[in-house]
Amino acid sequence: MPESNPTPEIGTNSGLRLVLGDVHARGPKSLAGSLEDALRHAVRSGRLPTGTPLPASRSLAADLGVSRGVVVRAYEQLLAEGYLRAHTGRGTVVGDVHATTGAAPPSRDRVLPPTPGLPALGLFPRREWLRSMEVAMADLTDADLGYGDPRGHPRLRSALAAYLGRTRAVVAPVDQIVVTSGYAQAIRLIAEALVRHGVRDVGVEDPGSIGAFESLRMGGLSTCPVPVDGLGLDVGALSAHDVGAVLVTPAHQFPTGAVLAPERRTQLLDWAVTRETVVVEDDYDAEYRYDRSPVGALQGLAPDRVVYGGSVSKSLAPGLRLGWVVAPAWLVGTLAEVKHWADISAPVLDQVALAVFIESGALDRHLRRTATQYATRRRHLLAAVGRHLPGWTVTGVAAGLHAVLVPDGPSDPAVEAEAARSAVDLVVVALAAYTQADERPGLVVGYGAATPDQIDRGVAAIAACLR
Ligand SMILES: Cc1ncc(COP(=O)(O)O)c(C=O)c1O
Repeated sequence: MPESNPTPEIGTNSGLRLVLGDVHARGPKSLAGSLEDALRHAVRSGRLPTGTPLPASRSLAADLGVSRGVVVRAYEQLLAEGYLRAHTGRGTVVGDVHATTGAAPPSRDRVLPPTPGLPALGLFPRREWLRSMEVAMADLTDADLGYGDPRGHPRLRSALAAYLGRTRAVVAPVDQIVVTSGYAQAIRLIAEALVRHGVRDVGVEDPGSIGAFESLRMGGLSTCPVPVDGLGLDVGALSAHDVGAVLVTPAHQFPTGAVLAPERRTQLLDWAVTRETVVVEDDYDAEYRYDRSPVGALQGLAPDRVVYGGSVSKSLAPGLRLGWVVAPAWLVGTLAEVKHWADISAPVLDQVALAVFIESGALDRHLRRTATQYATRRRHLLAAVGRHLPGWTVTGVAAGLHAVLVPDGPSDPAVEAEAARSAVDLVVVALAAYTQADERPGLVVGYGAATPDQIDRGVAAIAACLR
């Protein structure tokens, strides 16, 4: 008995010709190459879903008006790549592509929580930024107004190279920097570039940023949660997984607020070297440390193994949508290519304005000014927790724009979620919103964008709700 076939076959003179369009040799591409491209595209876009039986090579060749050898060569290539698979009884069928390549759908219907890492937008240095925009506009050449280098304008890349080297100990050769639309685009492009280099699975911190691991999945990678404790990512637990890369926030883990401990840094880089894997470093809100100087970036210790990313979203404003990647030499070409295909390059006026802003020292001044404010806001948060929430502690180092409040015993996740919503003018999110496998109690509180009064009222509202 032949196997039952729930999916109707796309046969000769049927939909496949419409799905693939006209297949003919384009430039140096052979006919078989063009057919492969058309099939790959149809599979990736979902127009040919997993399991769809393809016509026999002879039928498709007749349908497309090409020789049978062309179809056989294209099928063989795509069978080797996993886009197609041979199925006993059904011939050649579309492979399970989400598991092997291309973009994965979002992992679950999860509403993205509000961001606790918002800076004080009222402190945005409007005058200095405007001045930088004016200087940038005056300095731009006519040629600058054309299509730029996908890696970004050389002036911004030079300014970033100097700035990141000076403040974050990042080894940043100008030609290994790619300017992006914030870190969100950086992580998506990194994922796409790693997929092209054969990476399939990436370890992610648990708890960790939902946005980051959804972006990794959209870029074609599978994510694998790895627990985080008070010393940052548990590198021992990471070693138990067979992943080609890991994403970490070593300067200030999001959301727990831990700093990756020195011994874990060494272990992590050893893991990357021994397994020939890659560490993706999200230098999350690393500019702000209130009890000591910020710890330097991991990238500086192993520039060839670490893909480093950052943005101005915490230091200036997320609305500017400016970020960057410092990539190892072996990855930067692929990254520039995926950036080109995403949106060609970042807007040139904004890029040069940021370069001027950095060169003039305005960014350093702004960071000094805002750090004083945020440190004060954090002290207010600690005092408010002491007053309203006895038995709760504030965990995570004195850094960044958010802190985590932890109860001294078990707590009900539903009550925590309700308490988080009750703090009207303060962004509060239950820690559980960021966990995948590892449930834990706690509330993530964003204090950067809140006034002392809003902090006090918010914490009082949480306490009232928990009572
Ligand atoms: C973990 C993490 N990294 C980086 C960012 C910055 O993202 P972007 O630069 O796209 O605004 C965020 C934003 O909240 C974040 O949560």
